[in-house]
Amino acid sequence: MAVTAPTIRIPDNTEVIVILDFGSQYAQLIARRVREAGAFSVLVAPSAPIETLAQFRPKGIILSGGPASVNEVGAPRCDERLFEMGVPVLGICYGMQLGCQMLGADVRSAGKREFGRANLNILPVEERGLLVDLPASTTVWMSHGDQVEALPQEFEAIATTPTCPIAAVRHLKHKFYGIQFHPEVTHTPHGIDILRNFIFEICQCKGTWRMSEFLESECRRIREEVGAKRVICGLSGGVDSSVLAAMLIRAIGEQLTCVFVDNGLLRKAERQLVESTFRDHFQADLRVVDASEEFLVDLRGVLDPQEKRRRIGHRFIEVFKQTAAEIGDFEFLAQGTLYPDVIESGHSHAGTAANIKLHHNVGGLPEQLGFKLIEPLRDLFKDEVRKLGAVLGLPDQIIWRHPFPGPGLAVRIVGEVTKARLDLLRDCDEILLEEIVANNLYRSTSQVFAVLLPIQSVGVMGDGRTYESVVAIRAVETQDFMTADWARIPFNVLATISSRIINEIRGVNRVVYDISSKPPATIEWE
Ligand code: XMP
Repeated sequence: MAVTAPTIRIPDNTEVIVILDFGSQYAQLIARRVREAGAFSVLVAPSAPIETLAQFRPKGIILSGGPASVNEVGAPRCDERLFEMGVPVLGICYGMQLGCQMLGADVRSAGKREFGRANLNILPVEERGLLVDLPASTTVWMSHGDQVEALPQEFEAIATTPTCPIAAVRHLKHKFYGIQFHPEVTHTPHGIDILRNFIFEICQCKGTWRMSEFLESECRRIREEVGAKRVICGLSGGVDSSVLAAMLIRAIGEQLTCVFVDNGLLRKAERQLVESTFRDHFQADLRVVDASEEFLVDLRGVLDPQEKRRRIGHRFIEVFKQTAAEIGDFEFLAQGTLYPDVIESGHSHAGTAANIKLHHNVGGLPEQLGFKLIEPLRDLFKDEVRKLGAVLGLPDQIIWRHPFPGPGLAVRIVGEVTKARLDLLRDCDEILLEEIVANNLYRSTSQVFAVLLPIQSVGVMGDGRTYESVVAIRAVETQDFMTADWARIPFNVLATISSRIINEIRGVNRVVYDISSKPPATIEWE
């Protein structure tokens, strides 16, 4: 969805950097780096006229990268009058090529596409501005097919790489700077310094923006949008929906009703944690619906994981719909959609980001339910959501929670889901997490859980033979959950987990540790 007018009311003293999103996978990462530096950032469709951009009162403008070629017919462009605004502009990759072309430079296909690390040499020019205080030679991350071939007189090249002679430029009259590489990715070690130079040296920002300001301006926006109407929100107890609910309570208080569906597939004490946090601490209007019987009946005899997911998703929507109809007249539905969910389904602000994967979140309710959607977290990354949670006063236990899949323990019980198998798995899982927390491993791991396997193995206990269940332990480390490595949990901790589970849980006589990475395995077993 393209933003053609400001969706956020910018308070008078907020320093804003506007980012024109030409469809780069990294556009939001630029936005986040800017906010980390202490200036607020907004992503805007590249076609926005300068009158729209001016409404943000930007201290600077960044032109993002993008998949197109500036010489292609129909390639996205920006308002021709951009450089007349008198606001500093930084072009990154496609943004550099576009800015340079608009100001008279020659941009051509590089002959060979260039991906990966390159060595940037900063030229001994008089005014280093953007590259001030950087070492004379540094590594940068390149990803481009076109490059600037020739510059008119008003330009000066300020850095070069062995394959890209014009790797960074500045315009001598307009406040335009261009870099062919990506400063926003961690593979460019001094990338943050370059962005900070742009924000502080060139745009003269002071770095006063904080997450608390985002919270306040979003709350104001929600209040305006909602008016006196009522909002319903599905609360799962995960980080995203919890932060969302806490934010809405701050914004509209009693106009919000939270619905927590107990599907009987939860971990131990999960429901109690949500109840105590939201009812006791936040005084939320929280409705807990115990639908565990219905879910269990739906799952009877089902072995196929996709069929389990389908039935659980279907039932969840039914229960939610019915509950909403019973408790009142709601105009809005609030959802905890984050930016990665948006970009992964190919809906960047420019509408051109490549589609990476389809999201499979059972908590995502279909639009046909007839509510208007409120998604105040859709511009944020997970770590920003956590920061917001801290500003809102959510307990660490919720802010730092490992993700838990919508279909819950049903996809951690290989084979049929029954009440007895759920209870057994819940007990094993509780011991596992107790040990992970006690050994200070919760924050260094991304997801840790137990899986109940559909096999029995022979054991010996006391003097007798046993023939009981096998439980697998899965612990992974990952940044984005798209790839993951198995966590190197110390052997002594694994030993304690194994002996506690086998000794304390009746019906389990063997514990195994999963040492598969993703890919080729997935994080969940089903
Ligand atoms: P996989 O198993 O695909 O998991 O490597 C990646 C991340 O997604 C979670 N996951 C799900 N979350 N509904 C969800 O809401 C699902 O159907 C689902 N399947 C996997 C998984 O726990 C991990 O965090």
